Amino acid sequence: MKIGFIGTGNMGGAILKSYARVAEEQGNEALAFNRTKAKAEALLEDVKKDSGKSFEIKDSLAELVKDSDIVFMCVEPQNFDDVMPGVAEAFGEAGEKILVSIAAGITIDYLEGKLGKDAKIVRTMPNTPIMHGLGATAMVRNANISDEDMEAVKAVFEAGGITGEVTEDLIGAVIGVSGSSPAYTYMYIDALIKVGTDNGLDPELAKRFAAQAVMGAGKMVLTADESPAQLCDNVCSPGGTTIEAVKKLREENFEEITVRGAQASVDRAEEMSK
Ligand SMILES: NC(=O)c1ccc[n+]([C@@H]2O[C@H](COP(=O)([O-])OP(=O)(O)OC[C@H]3O[C@@H](n4cnc5c(N)ncnc54)[C@H](OP(=O)(O)O)[C@@H]3O)[C@@H](O)[C@H]2O)c1
Repeated sequence: MKIGFIGTGNMGGAILKSYARVAEEQGNEALAFNRTKAKAEALLEDVKKDSGKSFEIKDSLAELVKDSDIVFMCVEPQNFDDVMPGVAEAFGEAGEKILVSIAAGITIDYLEGKLGKDAKIVRTMPNTPIMHGLGATAMVRNANISDEDMEAVKAVFEAGGITGEVTEDLIGAVIGVSGSSPAYTYMYIDALIKVGTDNGLDPELAKRFAAQAVMGAGKMVLTADESPAQLCDNVCSPGGTTIEAVKKLREENFEEITVRGAQASVDRAEEMSK
């Protein structure tokens, strides 16, 4: 199969980079088209350096779509109105190809409006850690997608992390939980770095230790039988240091503030839906 990517920016580039590592062993080929060709070329160099693998850069949108079995739409939501007519023209007979969108706010209904009710469409919500194999991608299928189609699309995202299927009404919730949350996690890591440097640590060491602690805590949550709350209790020995931090954070409403921040992302996702 040929897997084509329209848009090799932050997200499209991240997915393509992770997928390029395994495309060949899955018996597939990766293709790309980006408005600014130099960006796709820079990504290709990066992919070659990273994994020794490659992908083909196409000269036009029409060529990319015609040559692909699965087309990943990785352009900004505001550019869909410009790009979709060209995609629709080259998309061929309904059922021939699968269109996968990664865009926030672009609904299956909108995409069916552009490609027809019989087109095969998967709407997804990935996040940038996919480039390091630690992505989390939610997937929604329209009525024309078979289990086999879904497996083919899943294989692309699972080259870079975990996936889960949801209904479309839950995409906003996914955006709050995993799509946008790397950003607020960076803020948290930055705050930990500040504590480290304020207390005399070398900034580079503080950064590595804070980031590793966040990644390690994530791993603990994914592998432990206990809930996150229980894991927190487990490390709060009475009279110890951690319990003092946890008490202070609770007094200052750390959890409520995080919920309010993430909810703003969910609300914005609902507003952007078209
Ligand atoms: N960033 C995230 O964390 C994240 C998470 C989940 C989902 N998403 C979704 O991912 C999509 C892309 O976001 P991004 O952050 O990757 O944006 P981005 O870095 O701006 O990348 C968008 C890319 O699309 C290209 N493009 C625009 N119009 C095009 C056209 N007509 N033909 C070909 N290429 C075109 C741009 O080319 P140029 O080089 O010419 O600008 C750019 O490389 C969005 O729909 C967003 O909702 C992003």
